[in-house]
Amino acid sequence: PATELDQIVNLCKRRGFVYPSAEIYGGFRSTYDYGPLGSLLLRNVKEAWVRAMVQQRDDVVLIDAAILGPPQVWEASGHLSNFTDPLVDCTNCKNRFREDKLDDPNTCPSCGAKNSFTEAREFNLMFKTQAGPVEGSGADAYLRPETAQGMFTNFGQVLQTTRKKPPFGIAQVGKSFRNEITPQNWIFRTREFEQMELEFFVPPAEGPQWYEYWCNERLDWYVRHGIPADMLRIRAHDDDELSHYSTGTSDVEFTFPWGWDELEGIAQRTDYDLKQHSEHSGERLDYFDQPNNERYVPYVIEPAAGATRTMAAFLLAAYDEEEVGDGDKSDVRTVLRLHPRLAPYKVAVLPLSKKDTLTPLAHEVRKLVGDRYMVDYDETQSIGKRYRRQDEIGTPLCITVDFDSLDDNAVTVRERDTMEQVRVPIAELMPLLTEKLGF
Ligand code: GAP
Repeated sequence: PATELDQIVNLCKRRGFVYPSAEIYGGFRSTYDYGPLGSLLLRNVKEAWVRAMVQQRDDVVLIDAAILGPPQVWEASGHLSNFTDPLVDCTNCKNRFREDKLDDPNTCPSCGAKNSFTEAREFNLMFKTQAGPVEGSGADAYLRPETAQGMFTNFGQVLQTTRKKPPFGIAQVGKSFRNEITPQNWIFRTREFEQMELEFFVPPAEGPQWYEYWCNERLDWYVRHGIPADMLRIRAHDDDELSHYSTGTSDVEFTFPWGWDELEGIAQRTDYDLKQHSEHSGERLDYFDQPNNERYVPYVIEPAAGATRTMAAFLLAAYDEEEVGDGDKSDVRTVLRLHPRLAPYKVAVLPLSKKDTLTPLAHEVRKLVGDRYMVDYDETQSIGKRYRRQDEIGTPLCITVDFDSLDDNAVTVRERDTMEQVRVPIAELMPLLTEKLGF
């Protein structure tokens, strides 16, 4: 794993995973763009989540709700009055801080001044905007600070159209926005980010068992996707850390270079949200349990993860520097040991030389493989340098097309992790790739 954040930040910039946003204009603080590789990796993280949380189960459905919402939603959810952080200003250097995140409440972390903070004031984290063409005359609207509310406001419709019954869940993946006072640590905490959230609705009495189930299941998801178990832990919140809607929360934490920090929160939201929305909207948001002739408001267990933050963790955990060769010829190769499902490219097709004679066959192989997997095609520089480049971006398999290939219709497949190579007839290539990738 990477011991310093900069190892990953630099690799990601150099190789096209993550760029500082609007850099040609000097950048825009704490905003990032996902480049050719980062956009693929992020997409794969989200797909791996949807696969586990929706595709492989029959009790969860997926929605994609609007980012813009009217004030009523955020009034009912409690975000307008409660979604705040305590903000203090340093009267000496004028910098702003979250009071609850100060290491020493009497010393400014920027300029070192003592007792220079103003009184804390509650700062709402939601981005407010106007819907409508004329400035000042439009209706107030908010960018959602979490995807969760879309699942609650659509609860009744989803229940009706899918005929699911508790225990069942509604999942969503998408952008959320928070006007963080101190965005920091690269893509760990940004003002614009992506979440992957599940609201799992259960009969109230089953709340505790499903909470435990989802804590275990979510921890295991990270392990299954390649994060070493000893870099992860579950930490239960103290009472004073709980959000306004929660009666119990545990975080899945990862050892970031700066220490243990949150990847995901699993919260017991009870019937808080459905009741709030029901009260504010006047709509009935409950479930009628026919066999027992009983109407109840389900309790909610919510595993809420960050897609962009999780991507940072996968990168940090996958990073490796390995000594290869021996004696004078030894060298260090950088490898991203990403799980094949997460790797931006599954396969690279590398014609041994740029000579025209190899191009048609190499293109044929590229087309064959590209039909099924995301493929990189690279014909520049020496083959050794190209292997290293693929190692560094985490491509699990490289296929080399050489001059013998023209005669024997076979290619060489090289594995990222072991660097082992096997020769395989092109006719048997696809089953071999499937076997090696595991899908
Ligand atoms: N619906 C509950 C909820 O939103 P949260 O703990 O505030 O809970 C869930 O957010 C996850 O979203 C976090 O664990 C984190 O992974 C991600 N997240 C929250 N704020 C973020 C930010 N400013 N930048 C990046 N990711 C963030």
